[in-house]
Amino acid sequence: MLRKERLFTPGPVPLPPQVIKALGQQIIHHRTPEFTQIFLSVREKLQKMLKTDKDVLIFSSSGTGAMEASAINFFKKNDTVLVINAGKFGQRWKEIAEKYELKVIDYEIEWGKTYDKDMLIEIVGKFPEIKGIFVQHSETSTTTLHDINFLAKISKKLDDCLLVVDGITSVGVYEVYPDEIGIDVLVTGSQKALMLPPGLSVLWFSEKAKERLKSSNIPKYYFDVQKEAKKQKDGQTAYTPPINLIIGLNESLNLILDEGLPELAKRHEIMAKATREAMKALGLTLLSESPSNSATGVYTPEGINADEFRKILLNIGFRVAGGQDHLKGKIFRVAHMGYFDFMDMIQVIAGIEMALDKIGYNIELGTGVKKAQEIFIKNL
Ligand SMILES: Cc1ncc(COP(=O)(O)O)c(C=O)c1O
Repeated sequence: MLRKERLFTPGPVPLPPQVIKALGQQIIHHRTPEFTQIFLSVREKLQKMLKTDKDVLIFSSSGTGAMEASAINFFKKNDTVLVINAGKFGQRWKEIAEKYELKVIDYEIEWGKTYDKDMLIEIVGKFPEIKGIFVQHSETSTTTLHDINFLAKISKKLDDCLLVVDGITSVGVYEVYPDEIGIDVLVTGSQKALMLPPGLSVLWFSEKAKERLKSSNIPKYYFDVQKEAKKQKDGQTAYTPPINLIIGLNESLNLILDEGLPELAKRHEIMAKATREAMKALGLTLLSESPSNSATGVYTPEGINADEFRKILLNIGFRVAGGQDHLKGKIFRVAHMGYFDFMDMIQVIAGIEMALDKIGYNIELGTGVKKAQEIFIKNL
């Protein structure tokens, strides 16, 4: 029997047809005026998406590469940095920072929760020497949103602190305007809401962060922001770029800008809300107390292994993600980011209901779908 596999993982996500078409073109050479023109246009569109006139660099790497670039270009060895560590990717900030000999204040938070504002004020009061705050805007492992506006305020109160934001699953889901928010370094990656295959990362930095480039004493070769900034200003990269991915990015940015950031953010908000409400209507518990609109994490009911449940769901036609580390076997995660619309969510919710029924969890079929339909009808 024909079974389609529908991708609902929080990265990679499905590719729009326009992007697939662009990716499939014959390659062009990168040291040509033709490539330079495309590259400059992509950079301009990235600036539009982020509502900024500052530098936006593109690296050939997955998102982690841009995270590493943030740590090694804007800091000095022994700088004290605060890591908001509330999941797998918060932990990654800590590991990167420690690898490059930054002194990490590890603000560890239970998975599924966000930081406590009073606690944050207390930490910052105790360590005025903090030179950077590292955070995920959207912590994908726990599908949690952290309030970066408040962090920006706190960061500004410190003497000389940069707010470094991993926007890997928030850029293209929310309106993330780093100048307005008060972010200093923002990174994202291609295989999330930018609707591309993996392989590109993006790094934006503020004027204040730019000043730090001169004094950074951490060794770097490939991820050298100053070197890249110089080249990319003129529409070239220091090393061979993934040419077709950049051509694909040109298309996905067209889609994003054509939809408009406010509309795009609203679409994600409604899809995420409908999914959350559907899951609750089915009697399931959400993982996050501060849920992100990029993906929804859900506990499987008591006694049901989430990975077994995911196998059934895959057999029905939906690939969703599982839990990482200690959440393995306990949760599943459904993506909303990128090329999804309301009816995609209705489909996956219906699939989840069928898988729950199949695994023996007693529900009335259609309960979650109905809830989502009601929410979507209100927003048509
Ligand atoms: C919030 C967040 N940060 C970092 C990463 C790591 O990105 P990559 O796997 O592209 O290196 C991911 C990937 O899922 C992510 O969701």
